[in-house]
Amino acid sequence: MSDERLKVILTRKLPEEVEARLAELFEVVPYTYDRPMTREELTAAAQNCDVLALTLANKVDEELLSKVGTRLKLIANFGAGIDHIDIQAAARRDITVTNTPSVLAEDAADMAMALILAVPRRLVEGVKALKEGSFTGWSPTWMLGRRVRGKKLGIIGLGRVGQAIAHRAKAFGLSIHYHNRHPINPHIENELEATYWESLDQMLARVDIVSVNCPQTPATYHLLSARRLQLLRPEAYVVNISRGDIIDEGALADLIAEGKLAGAALDVFSREPAINPKLLNAPNVVLLPHMASATVESRIDMGERMLINIKMFADGHKPPDRIIPEVLD
Ligand code: DGY
Repeated sequence: MSDERLKVILTRKLPEEVEARLAELFEVVPYTYDRPMTREELTAAAQNCDVLALTLANKVDEELLSKVGTRLKLIANFGAGIDHIDIQAAARRDITVTNTPSVLAEDAADMAMALILAVPRRLVEGVKALKEGSFTGWSPTWMLGRRVRGKKLGIIGLGRVGQAIAHRAKAFGLSIHYHNRHPINPHIENELEATYWESLDQMLARVDIVSVNCPQTPATYHLLSARRLQLLRPEAYVVNISRGDIIDEGALADLIAEGKLAGAALDVFSREPAINPKLLNAPNVVLLPHMASATVESRIDMGERMLINIKMFADGHKPPDRIIPEVLD
């Protein structure tokens, strides 16, 4: 496919540098509004381009793909998570899907580490107390949190982001535990002094902080179910920067409200941008608006990575970040 003819439709406003660079290489149709396309706009866009530059805010499912015809050849996702795209349905229509892994891992890990510190050390509560005027001076017994050093961190999904979190957590004196489908490379495991748990249930019962870092797939939907959340000790905290549906949010909020879990820090939610009111009202919960990768640097790198995928595809090569459907099963 010649890139001269490639028409790329942007489904969301992207950083200026990214849009400018894309426009140098392809026929780009920008989207000027800083809101997701409507379903109708998205369908029309997908019918009229070779490449759809997608973000997680728009769902591409069987129903939409059944209407797009044969022109669309590549869905280039701006982001690592691809749970909003029906990969199998795309593959059946010979549509390649790419994402932008790696480039945001370090920034996302920084945010996860900030959350791992924020909840046990009550950072957000402290700021709130100060602003509300309830700080009357230092006290031996006020605003006491929990020590982080020496605690056990259980990472669900020790991939790129999980490993970047583990490196940071190790430096803070946490011991690293992890659950994956398979153990990771033994060199990396040794370097992190990480303990592999084949049984997620067993790991959950033993760790102090759980960090959710696996992708959302049908197999990880409510992986942290009400039953599994109850395996955690009452002193445990849950941190999630991956995807909301990996946790049963309602059960999590209930357990915190009942004092059966110490707290949670969440950057992602089941029905974004709506937030489960139970979570909004739960005590000792830090909530962020899906911003783990929100740095200027990450967003430009994500754009560059997306562009590389499109360019490779245009030049007739396999894009480096193409999603291979079988891997998801
Ligand atoms: C991703 O990449 O999927 C993040 O959730 C957004 O940057």
